[in-house]
This record gives sequence, structure tokens and C-alpha cells, in this order.
Amino acid sequence: MSQPTIESILHEQRLFAPAASFAQTAQIGSPEAYQQLCDRAQANPQQFWADLAEQELEWFAPWQQVLDWQPPFAKWFVGGKLNISYNCLDRHLTTWRRNKAALIWEGEPGDSRTLTYAQLHREVCQFANALKHLGVQKGDRVAIYMPMIPEAAIAMLACARIGAAHTVIFGGFSAEAVKDRLLDAQVKVVVTADGGWRKDAIVPLKAQVDQALEQGGVPSVENVLVVQRTGQQVAMQLGGRDHWWHELQRLVSADCPAEPMDSEDMLFILYTSGTTGKPKGVVHTTGGYNLYSHITTKWIFDLQDTDIYWCTADVGWITGHSYIVYGPLSNGATTLMYEGAPRPSNPGCTWEIIEKYGVNIFYTAPTAIRAFLKMGEDLPKARDLSSLRLLGTVGEPINPEAWMWYHRVIGGERCPIVDTWWQTETGGIMITPLPGVTTTKPGSATRPFPGIFADVVDLDGNSVPDNDGGYLVVKHPWPGMMRTVYGDPERFRKSYWEHIPPQDGQYVYFAGDGARRDEDGYFWIMGRVDDVINVAGHRLGTMEIESALVSHPAVAEAAVVGRPDEVKGEEVVAFVTLEGSHASSEDLRAELKQHVVTEIGTIARPGEIRFADSLPKTRSGKIMRRLLRTLASGETISGDTSTLEDRSVLDKLRSEG
Ligand code: WTA
Repeated sequence: MSQPTIESILHEQRLFAPAASFAQTAQIGSPEAYQQLCDRAQANPQQFWADLAEQELEWFAPWQQVLDWQPPFAKWFVGGKLNISYNCLDRHLTTWRRNKAALIWEGEPGDSRTLTYAQLHREVCQFANALKHLGVQKGDRVAIYMPMIPEAAIAMLACARIGAAHTVIFGGFSAEAVKDRLLDAQVKVVVTADGGWRKDAIVPLKAQVDQALEQGGVPSVENVLVVQRTGQQVAMQLGGRDHWWHELQRLVSADCPAEPMDSEDMLFILYTSGTTGKPKGVVHTTGGYNLYSHITTKWIFDLQDTDIYWCTADVGWITGHSYIVYGPLSNGATTLMYEGAPRPSNPGCTWEIIEKYGVNIFYTAPTAIRAFLKMGEDLPKARDLSSLRLLGTVGEPINPEAWMWYHRVIGGERCPIVDTWWQTETGGIMITPLPGVTTTKPGSATRPFPGIFADVVDLDGNSVPDNDGGYLVVKHPWPGMMRTVYGDPERFRKSYWEHIPPQDGQYVYFAGDGARRDEDGYFWIMGRVDDVINVAGHRLGTMEIESALVSHPAVAEAAVVGRPDEVKGEEVVAFVTLEGSHASSEDLRAELKQHVVTEIGTIARPGEIRFADSLPKTRSGKIMRRLLRTLASGETISGDTSTLEDRSVLDKLRSEG
């Protein structure tokens, strides 16, 4: 049989049905079983979720009400008591899973560790006691700014165990970005490491924390706990603010019962980019999040007890929360965590790890797949990948070419691919194939998870016809949904619930993504419709980068747009006007790029900076981003420019580029 070309896939729309052998053992393995779930969810969504919550989780006390919905504020399993660390750890200790590998960890330099459920439980209890020793109480906020090492997961679970809310800050963020988050969440304790390995270099995490806390910059922070990972020299304020993790562990016992938490007690805050310069603290609570991350992991990744499951995300993102830590552990699975990333000294590390551990389920981002594709087939072909049985993607639309490569080269044409659409705000996967039953089409995230009622609508909230583009919305509350923006419920309401008017009194959640639905009811996600860009699967607010740029003394005004990029999906392009006394130069260009890195982190570094005399604006003074996007991608400007205030600006910008 000849290989299908990309054109034939796009035009004939090849379909990939699950193999009978896969379906036979799958968690959801027949169209009838799937239909039954959808029907039950449709008939009575609350009963559907309540039944699952009862079957899948252990509760210390039952709930009195399944859902209390005061739009846009939802409470799930009201009055119920549970603890997610208990569901992730303790409940497995009385079963054969006690000595099963819970966490397999591979360090970038080649060191490794495996923690069984019993061992992980002990570490978590000890660390929970260490936090208590420092005075951390239920309701306090703890920041976790860590490399991808087991202690990151241990710290998360320890916070959950005593009822402190964690806020994990991605290790790639700069000291300034860390400081903003610590201030917003009024963090009491920061957990970090001396450093972490990434691409053959050490990320100096503790030094960044020191900088963030300089001169009492964050008054709420009382203590910093430091894991010794790399062994490099770090400045420690011993006997006061700073403590070594391993020294504290020696002082405390490993006996720490899980605190009974209210279902609606805050579990974590996770900051994500929105359309303003200030990141939003997305709040998730205990019961609903536990159930939603648990059940989506179980059905979408079709977890079997013998599986080794690897999600390549960082714990600093929601994918790491839901699908490295909470979802897999709640299911009693074996989850693999890797500290590093492909790099010149070891570009094939991904395939080496799959071979070494016999990974069965592999979940990664399209940007990584496109980078692998560019590196060629020799690297994966040099390794035995036959253990793989299921592949997943998340974070951005996957182009059919990358999908087909993943299917053929990595999946050996035998593994189903789950293209999963979701967001920090949704807590878990929302639109996705179920691998044992869904026939997939490359590039489509297929259909909503049972119990999720998604639609594509116009700005009035009317469903658009099949294959027309529109706004992606969700029509009924679900257990994993975010509860509010930390400290700013109005922003929560405005960002997600006011763009589209309620339909028949029913509030709809506005995701900020464009989508179309085809004649089979399959969703095709078309990317953000707001001022958020997606660079290598990382969500960045254009306003955040603009604020960073204008904080530089040379910059008068800045406008940031995304430009399509073959590997990263999008790349940051900044248009900058300068303050009178400053002249454009290559040095200044480099300095401004570095300035963004200092203010936010490397992920936000502009790929290009273009200097301009002025920016195209409407008569009311709004920057016309549409024009800048077109210019940035080198296309010719067509369409309406009649609202442009000064047409000569465009000609100048064109000649600049
Ligand atoms: C995008 C990551 C297309 C989307 C879990 C969304 C996707 C944003 C997909 C959320 C997908 C995520 N197909 N686009 N399968 N998954 N996105 O909060 O634009 O970091 O709004 O959550 O990523 O990014 P976040």
C-alpha cells in the first residue's frame, strides 16, 4: 500500500478507526458503551457526575448537593469531604499497588529514581510535616518553583495533604515574573531547588527566588525551602528564611494524616496569560478537580494497571498538574517524569527513555512533534518503540502532516492518537477522542468528553451551521471548571461569561478559541480569537510582552503579534516605537529581547523586533493588530483599512520590514 500524501488526507479526509485489538481491552471499548455514557450525561448531567464521584473517589463525608450553580460561580459536591492526596496515595496502600511504581523519574544527566506508592506516601507525609513545622496552615499559599524532579510532585501532594493551596510557577519564568505571582497569591513559603538541569545547563532557580525576594520585595514570604539537586553553591539565609529540604526532613516524622478538606476548598492557583498585562490566577478546588482529572485520565489515556505512562509537560503548566501528577496517581498508575529536553548532546533522549522504560502511553505537544519531524526519522528508528500503544497531543492545533508523522514513525501505524483540547481554566481535557471508540481525523480533536456540552456559536450565542467558523463555548458547568480568578471574581465573570449572552437563561463559558464543527459533529480548533498567542504550546498574552517592552526606558510604544512558525506554531514579533532621544540599532534590538527575557522569561523572547516611527491606529486610537499580523507574516495587506488614522504609517512599516 502506498503512503498517503498530505493532500490525500486533507481532501479525502482519511479516517482512522481504532483497531479491534485495542478496543477489546479498552476502558471504553464499544460504541454502545460510549453512547450509553453520552445518553446518561445528557439525560441528567448532575446524576452522571455524582455516580462517577461515588464510584471513582473516596470521600470522608458525603455531599449534600451535587451542584450549586449561581452563574458564573459553581460549587460541586457541596458539603462533601475528601483529600486529593489521600485519593492519590493512601487509598492505594491497602491494595497490591502499595509496592507498585508510582513515579519513575529520569534526570537529564542520566540519574534516575523510582518511588513506589508506599515510598511516595512517606515522602509526601514527611514534607507535609516539614511545611507544618514552618507554620504553614490550611488555606495558606505555597509557591513551588522547581525543576522537573520528584520533589515537585511531592511538594504539590504535601500541600494538598494539609490543605495549603499550591501555586506552581514554571521554572522558565524570570525573577520578575516569579515576584508578580508571589505578590498576587500572597505566598507564605516558597519551595525551590538550588538548580535544575535543562538542555545541558543549570537553571539557577534559588538565585532567581533570591532576586524576587530582594529587599523584602514580597513581605508575605516567611520561608524558602531548598532542594539540593545540582549541588552548586547557593546563598542560604540559614537560621532564618532559608532551609534545606533534606535537613528539615530529618527533623519531622512521616506520620501525617490527610486533612479532611471541603470539596470546594481551594486546591491550587495556577497563573495563565489573558488579554491584559497581568496574568490571571486560575483557581481550582478539591472535589470537582479530583474527579475530573481522574476520570479523563482513565478514559482518554485508557489506563491499564500494567502501563507505563509518560506525559512530557512541565509541572508548571496545567497539563503537568492534571496529567503527570493528580490524574495518573489518583488512578494508581505509573507516571514517568523527565527532567530535561532534547538537546544537541542528546537529541534522541525521548526515544531512549521510551525504550529504557518500555513506555506504553506517550502524551506530548505538537510543537515537539514538529521539532522531532525536522530532526528526521533516524533518531526514533534507532530505538525500540514497540511498547507504545497510545499517543496523545495537547496545547495547540496539530497540522495533519505532523499528525501523520506521529502516527507512522512513532506509533508504527498501530497506536491511536488522542488530540486533546482543553485549557488551564477547564482543569481537564474537554474535547478528545476516546481511543477505543472514536474514529479520528488528523487535525481534529473530535468530540466533547461525555458530560461536556460544547458548541460553536456566533457573538449572539446562536449555534453556527456545520463547517462555519465561530466561537467555542461550553454550555453546562462541569466538575473540573475553574471557580474564579484569585482575588478578582469580576475578572472571572468578564473574561469568560460575558462575551456571549446567556441563551434561554443558560450561561455559556467562552473559551477564547475559534472553532468549526463538521458534518460528523467533529470539532476543529482554529486557535485563539483574543490577544493571546501560543508559542511552542505556551500561552502568552501580547499585552504582557508589550508591558515588558514599554518598561524599558528607550521604548515609547509597543505592539506584539504572533507570526506563524513552522515548529513553534507561532513566534513573537514586536513593533516598537522609541522615545525621542533613542535611535534604533542592532544593539538596542538585542537589549530589548533580553529585557523581555528578564521581565518574563525565555519563553516570551521576541523572534523579531521591528522599529517603527508610529504604529497603525484607528481614529479612536486602537492599535490595528490585524494589519500588524499581516505585515509580520510578510503577506500583503488586503481588506478594509478605512478606519486607519494615518495611511502613510503603513507604507513606512512595509518598507521597514
Ligand atoms: C490551545 C493547555 C488546538 C487553545 C492544556 C487553548 C489547543 C489553549 C489544543 C490553552 C488542541 C490546547 N488543539 N488548540 N488539542 N489544546 N489548545 O491554558 O488555544 O496552556 O485555549 O492549556 O491552548 O492553553 P493552556
